[in-house]
Amino acid sequence: MKKIAVLTSGGDAPGMNVAIRAIVRSAIHYGMEAYGVQDGFKGLSENDIFPLTRKHVTRIINRGGTILGSARYPEFKEEKTQLIAVENLKKRDIEGLIVIGGDGSFRGAQALSKLGIRTIGLPATIDNDIASTDYSIGFFTALDTAVESIDKLRDTSFSHQRCSVVEVMGRHCGDLGLYAGIAVGSEFIVTPETGFDKSKTIAEVKKSFDRNKRHAIVVVTENMTDVHQLAKDIEKATTHETRATVLGHVQRGGTPQAFDRVLATEMAERAVYLLSKSLGDKVIGLNRKDLEEFSFEEALSMKRETPSKRYGLVGQLKN
Ligand code: F6P
Repeated sequence: MKKIAVLTSGGDAPGMNVAIRAIVRSAIHYGMEAYGVQDGFKGLSENDIFPLTRKHVTRIINRGGTILGSARYPEFKEEKTQLIAVENLKKRDIEGLIVIGGDGSFRGAQALSKLGIRTIGLPATIDNDIASTDYSIGFFTALDTAVESIDKLRDTSFSHQRCSVVEVMGRHCGDLGLYAGIAVGSEFIVTPETGFDKSKTIAEVKKSFDRNKRHAIVVVTENMTDVHQLAKDIEKATTHETRATVLGHVQRGGTPQAFDRVLATEMAERAVYLLSKSLGDKVIGLNRKDLEEFSFEEALSMKRETPSKRYGLVGQLKN
């Protein structure tokens, strides 16, 4: 294989640039030319593809976001759009493609794989919701951002003897909420895995204030409940002032932290290596310290395990 392309797709994640950099440099190492696709599958079907050189990827190892741009592009579910994308790659003699993104992006990648393009998926999402890898690129940076923000909220919450209700991202996965909850020593967490029980949440906060704590922190995964209403309900039931904060998209930005950089670099190198051997239809995962490969079908049909011991920790340590 002489020419490969890379695209980033779905919600951006810190570390995507690190992966792009490692792909370009590994391609040079394995004697291949790298191409970049602008704005994910949209650019692929609109023929927005250009050569990526070493120069494009200097000084991006510490940059958040993605230099290639990303997009959610539901039109790519249609076969006619996929065929146009294949044509755009073929007319440049590009035989291999690396898709950096989450499960949704892997479905697009799988379609291209079935149409004869050797395609590799690199898991990158702050949600850490991809079953075929313990950790996805971007998760730990987003977690650090959430923890840093909640630590700041704790300062003011402590000063005013308040409760802080903090909403974190995660879509249908509670990992950001769970890990952040443990890292900040929150009173209670609400995630898709725990479900939402208003009375239980209020009772836990009350218990905490009854033990003479000056402040309380409740971490809630997005879409679980209206955090502003929950704050009002907690305030009414506990008589402690309560404020809600939605961390939102700040969690997606920022300099990738060290582990995300190492993960992105190792996964990217493996992807290019596989393409150099003319192998495709693979998703790279990191499981128990080792990189592994799965077919798109295997990866997309896996179920995520709930880290139940970690959930246990949140309840156990608040006494
Ligand atoms: O998948 C990453 C993510 O940030 C989720 O946590 C969140 O639900 C979603 O993307 C937000 O998407 P958008 O940027 O399109 O609003």
